[in-house]
Amino acid sequence: MPLPASRSLLAMLFACVSWLGMMPSTWAADAATISIACSGVGQELEFCKGAAEAWARKTGHALKIVTPPNDASERLALYQQLLSARSDKIDVLQVDVIWPGLLGGHLLDLRPYAKGAEAQHFPGFIANNTSQGRLVAMPWFANAGLLFYRSDLLQKYGQPLPSTWEELTVGARTIQDGERAAGNERMWGYVWQGRAYEGLSCNALEWVASHDGGAIVEADGRISIDNPRAALALQTAAAWVGSISPTAVLNYAEEESRGVFQAGNAVFMRNWPYAWALAQAEGSAIRGKVGVAVLPKAAGAGRHAATLGGESLAVSNYSRHPAAAADLVLYMTSAAVQKERALRGSFNPTITVLYQDPEILQANPFMGELFATFTSAIARPTTVTGARYNQVSHQFWNAAHDTLSGKATAEQALSRLDRSLQRVSRRGTWR
Ligand code: GLC
Repeated sequence: MPLPASRSLLAMLFACVSWLGMMPSTWAADAATISIACSGVGQELEFCKGAAEAWARKTGHALKIVTPPNDASERLALYQQLLSARSDKIDVLQVDVIWPGLLGGHLLDLRPYAKGAEAQHFPGFIANNTSQGRLVAMPWFANAGLLFYRSDLLQKYGQPLPSTWEELTVGARTIQDGERAAGNERMWGYVWQGRAYEGLSCNALEWVASHDGGAIVEADGRISIDNPRAALALQTAAAWVGSISPTAVLNYAEEESRGVFQAGNAVFMRNWPYAWALAQAEGSAIRGKVGVAVLPKAAGAGRHAATLGGESLAVSNYSRHPAAAADLVLYMTSAAVQKERALRGSFNPTITVLYQDPEILQANPFMGELFATFTSAIARPTTVTGARYNQVSHQFWNAAHDTLSGKATAEQALSRLDRSLQRVSRRGTWR
């Protein structure tokens, strides 16, 4: 049953619906109209729409493109409302790597439609998308948190590519000061995602893991987040706010940070791979001046940590055209479409063999150079926390946000977080 609060989200969704009004080139007797939810981060909408239209032309089906909110947490809330209301308004959904466990019961088993195509994808991604033995989503693109840097500015100021957070802080400060003195008042050292949403959980997990502070909740269910290494990690990040990072970073998601970096106003940025193609695009102020590396780690401890992200496509159980919707998903996630998206949009493929494709590696050198970063990226604790992951993440990003905004010390925020996670988990049992 939809909750009263769902009205605004639903209104938002329908305000965003764009009917393509496409006349299929061939009239199939069983032509259907398939609605697909494509996110609008960076070039995502353009690519999603382009491939879906190509499928519609090929099959004679019609399309309706829906753009849900860019913010992953808002998108999840919208999907949960639609799916729990058993709405048939969306046939195909873009599903975050952390959602198959949460939404799986509402999603169609794609295995009968995939006819073995799943074997081409990273086995870990397929395992992630398997909920109670059912393949509930086909992998579409992989994500890992990366450090984007201005190679021209590091060179100009004789700064090394930072390997530790301390080095990043020094480099960011030196270049920020130098560029401001030279007339760019708007220059910042480091931009990232500090808004209270899922993206902050991704950033904060990287800080914590890179300080050897654990994975929030460990694989055995133990809540580990209230520890001095995690506190140091959050404190380190809090010290950037208002110093090398603008205070506004507390409200930045992916696109806000990219906006600052791409305008030439930041030395370093944490973001997902999609930012590469845009930074290198014709007309970009920083074209040819950007490098991509692993995120730094703590000095003397920890490891270079990237949070694993990524997106899949799924078919709603409430679709009135499951076969056509599944066909669209299989087309959109195919090797040909993934290659096109990698070449022009720097979306990391989920099909293993595409990482040996010379054209893809030439367009995106980081996909080859940082291959290990993708294969060893840290998963958020979705497996162990199951249906409660979203509550865990919500509490975690709030604790991080409270520390970043100075509402609490890292120790206070983490001790409070520990207490609330104990409640959410029924003292670490989770099930
Ligand atoms: C990207 C990632 C996703 C993550 C989200 C956070 O969309 O693919 O896994 O949850 O960013 O903002």
